[in-house]
This record gives sequence, structure tokens and C-alpha cells, in this order.
Amino acid sequence: MSTRQRVVSAILGEHRALSAVIEALRHVALAVEQGGLQPDYVMLWSLVYYIDQYPETHHHPMEEQALFPAVRARSAGLEEVLDELGRQHGASRAHLDELRALLGNMEAGIPGARQAFAATAASYAGFHQRHMLLEESRVLPTAIEVLREEDWEALLPRVQGRADPLDAQAVNSDPWFREVFRRLVAIVPQPWGLGAPR
Ligand SMILES: [Fe+2]
Ligand SMILES: [Fe+2]
Repeated sequence: MSTRQRVVSAILGEHRALSAVIEALRHVALAVEQGGLQPDYVMLWSLVYYIDQYPETHHHPMEEQALFPAVRARSAGLEEVLDELGRQHGASRAHLDELRALLGNMEAGIPGARQAFAATAASYAGFHQRHMLLEESRVLPTAIEVLREEDWEALLPRVQGRADPLDAQAVNSDPWFREVFRRLVAIVPQPWGLGAPR
């Protein structure tokens, strides 16, 4: 596999892991709101922790500090898209903080918190799906077109520096995260989970 393929497949793999976690969170929040599922707070807090510790702390900064500047340096055509994605990275942690506050409210049994948590989880999922789609449809194809071998070589340590703990192949593959994830996919419908198809 070329350096370019390794970088691109690492980024796509991180998007898939984040999609799976966020879709699972959306599904669980909805099932809890509708009364079909008792909330498992250890699992819900673990998902929020994963999003905070991995995508927010590693993936978005890697794009913001390494991938986007590399693309900007080689192409002038994506300025508006990259600016918009940068604004979305900035807004992402605030959304997560809101989700965290609502999860606390839900655990405290505050009236209406289940509904608010489900609505926020759904909008958070939609926000991230649109964000990743924009990166995959605009930024990655341009990167593949304009970046040179030395650019990919410089990006490689950034995507390998702290590989996704949900990835079984990763150097720092984390059994704790994978166990949380295993429990999660068992209750979430396909295609994100292993439960009955919707
Ligand atoms: Fe991003
Ligand atoms: Fe991304």
C-alpha cells in the first residue's frame, strides 16, 4: 500500500468508526426516549468519552493542523469548503458539551431530558454525517489530485500517531473501548450495529 493509500484509508477508517459510534448514540437515545430501552449510563458516558478523547482530540485537529493546510498549500480551489469545515470543527466540541449536559440531566431524571437528549443526538449525528461527507466528496479527492509524495509522507505520522482505539489493528488498540463498542453494536440495528435490520 502506498503512503497516500495508507493516509487516506486511515482517515476513512476514522470516519467509519465515528459514524458507527454517533449513529449508535442516536439510535440508543431514540430507543430510550420511546421507552423501548433502559438507558445504560456506563455505555452512554463511554461513548461521549470516546468522541471527546478520540475524534475531538485527535481526528479533527489532525485535519485542521495537517491535512487542510497541505491541501491549501497545493490548491486554491477549496478555500471556502475548508473554511466551512474549519468552522464546523470549531462548533463540534460545543455540540458535544451540550450532549454531555443533557446526558447528565437524563441521568438525574429531569423531566424532558430524554427527549432533549434524543433530539440533540439526532442533530449531532446529522451534523457529523454532513461534515464527513463534505470531507470525503471534496477534500480527499482534491488531496489525492494535488498532494505530492512528500506531503503524504508528512501526513503519515499524524494519522498513525494515535490510531483509533476502536481499530483492532491499531498499535494502541484499546480493549476497554472495544468492549464498550461490542456491547453497543449488539443492540444497534444494521447497518451500524449487529441487531435486527430496520
Ligand atoms: Fe473533519
Ligand atoms: Fe474528518
